[in-house]
Amino acid sequence: MLTAYDIMPEVMEAVIFSGLQAAGKTTLYRDRFLETHARISMDLLRTRAREAAFLRVCFETRTPFVVDNTNPTVAERARYVQPAREAGYKVIGYLVEVDHAVAAGRNLARERKVPAAGLRDVARRLVRPTPEEGFDELWHATAGPDGWRIEPLLTTPPLF
Ligand SMILES: Nc1ncnc2c1ncn2[C@@H]1O[C@H](COP(=O)(O)OP(=O)(O)OP(=O)(O)O)[C@@H](O)[C@H]1O
Ligand SMILES: [Mg+2]
Repeated sequence: MLTAYDIMPEVMEAVIFSGLQAAGKTTLYRDRFLETHARISMDLLRTRAREAAFLRVCFETRTPFVVDNTNPTVAERARYVQPAREAGYKVIGYLVEVDHAVAAGRNLARERKVPAAGLRDVARRLVRPTPEEGFDELWHATAGPDGWRIEPLLTTPPLF
């Protein structure tokens, strides 16, 4: 018997964000993915066990999802890239980038502030995602006053 899942489009997207705190990742999720992709975020789920359980449900139900964490390193992204590939997802990365000073300013202006040291730590550890990690597509997203500018990552030189 056919189930709803059998007739869903074949391409399921696993979208993995990387970027500093206050760079605009959750804003990007809200602007571009809210209606189509589940949100997996440590801010929301708090523990790796809970995160793993949510990911399992996404895989089992073939639900498109976005991982909305800072994910600065290859190892942190591999946690999602490999299982998503094995589950048959198209794996898409977004580097959400703004100048450190802009991120720091937005951080100070928002309700949920993270310590400046946390921002510096992620900035120090941040490695640009590459296709070798298993990404099928890589995008660079930067939010300016007139909206998102989203371009292929590989042809976008580092902004800063
Ligand atoms: N284009 C923009 N112009 C001005 N402010 C913005 C813009 N995009 C996002 N912000 C503001 O910057 C702050 C940080 O954005 P957001 O919460 O999306 O960052 P984040 O990358 O999800 O941070 P975190 O990793 O800490 O969750 C928010 O207060 C948001 O409203
Ligand atoms: Mg966020």
